[in-house]
Amino acid sequence: MRFSPLTQRLGGDGANAWRIHSEALRARAEGKDVIVMSVGDSEFDTPSGIVDACISALHSGDTHYTEVAGRHRLRSAIANNHQQKTGVQTTAENVIVSAGCQNALFIAAQIALSPGDEVIVFEPMYVTYEAVFQAPGATIVPVPCPAELGFRPDLAALRAAITAKTTAVVFANPVNPTGVVFPPEDLAVIAEVARQNDLWVIADEVYADLLFEGEHVSIASLEGMKERAITVSSLSKSHAMTGWRSGWAIAPEPFVQEMEKLALCSTYGLPGFIQEAAAFALENRIDKLDEMRSAFMDRRDLAMKALQNAPGLECWHAQAGMFLIVDVRKTGLSGEQFVERLYAETGVSVLNGAAFGPSTNGTVRMSFAVPEETLQEGCARIQAFTKRLQKETGGQK
Ligand SMILES: Cc1ncc(COP(=O)(O)O)c(C=O)c1O
Repeated sequence: MRFSPLTQRLGGDGANAWRIHSEALRARAEGKDVIVMSVGDSEFDTPSGIVDACISALHSGDTHYTEVAGRHRLRSAIANNHQQKTGVQTTAENVIVSAGCQNALFIAAQIALSPGDEVIVFEPMYVTYEAVFQAPGATIVPVPCPAELGFRPDLAALRAAITAKTTAVVFANPVNPTGVVFPPEDLAVIAEVARQNDLWVIADEVYADLLFEGEHVSIASLEGMKERAITVSSLSKSHAMTGWRSGWAIAPEPFVQEMEKLALCSTYGLPGFIQEAAAFALENRIDKLDEMRSAFMDRRDLAMKALQNAPGLECWHAQAGMFLIVDVRKTGLSGEQFVERLYAETGVSVLNGAAFGPSTNGTVRMSFAVPEETLQEGCARIQAFTKRLQKETGGQK
């Protein structure tokens, strides 16, 4: 069998990171006693008004092909939301809907990047980025957000990474896995570098509405960025809608028109009933969203507090999102060893932080998007595990 070179570019280390997670899911399906804290998909159901909007669209026969770039009503709702947040005039023509934020990232990468281009991606980066941004034949140039800088971008390294081949800068803000929100002064420098070097900026804001403290600034709102910012997001995290695959990209109109060509020959539009539900979600105030956000914040606090009593572990304070980065180096184990042993000995699955980039080597990423009792039990098992480790090493670590 012969496959195209694209298949090589779609592989990569990222895929390996999910091995223990997949094993845990299998074990859970078989009824085994495992606790899955390796993924950002909460137990919350989608708020009922959104589900009702979908069902009523289905009952009214909304089961046909739809406009490839998305229905005007939904594109307008997304545009209005973005305009309210950024102050930048945004119309439906600046928006294309996509099958989740993931699909928006993939299409944006295909439209922005050519073979031989260099794309700067801040690391730690979300695990699918490697495949997404290599798929067009571009080379990823990672720029660190090191722990010493509080996981904020190393802006000197950003400037030094620019070459004649650099075409785009990519980052998630808030960041998965660290939960860091880039401050406006960092975004101002990134924007300046992008303007000076005529770069696209692809900003993944899928966690922007799961903010616990501080302020989230969209880079699209900064001067001169409307022409070069591609903002991608979705309802997956903010509205407990991961399975609906309801996302979008907001970009300059010509960019959207190019994205539409790719959507036409790939997804050929999203289901109308999903779009109706998404439009409802964006047009209405939904109290449940605040409740969910506040539950996530309580869970973050609960997990951080519980892990204070786990010898050798140090948690990074997440400002947003669903994850904690936990430094495990003082236990004497690498991130990978910790993940393997924790799962084998306690049934708790977490992810190796190194899968997100060298800046999170020696850490694990733990999701707190699980019910409170599960989180408590998961943390108790982690605590007991680290106490056992401490005994093994004679308390020296
Ligand atoms: C940073 C980041 N971007 C994109 C995605 C994918 O989002 P969606 O489910 O909307 O495709 C995720 C999912 O976990 C994510 O963490």
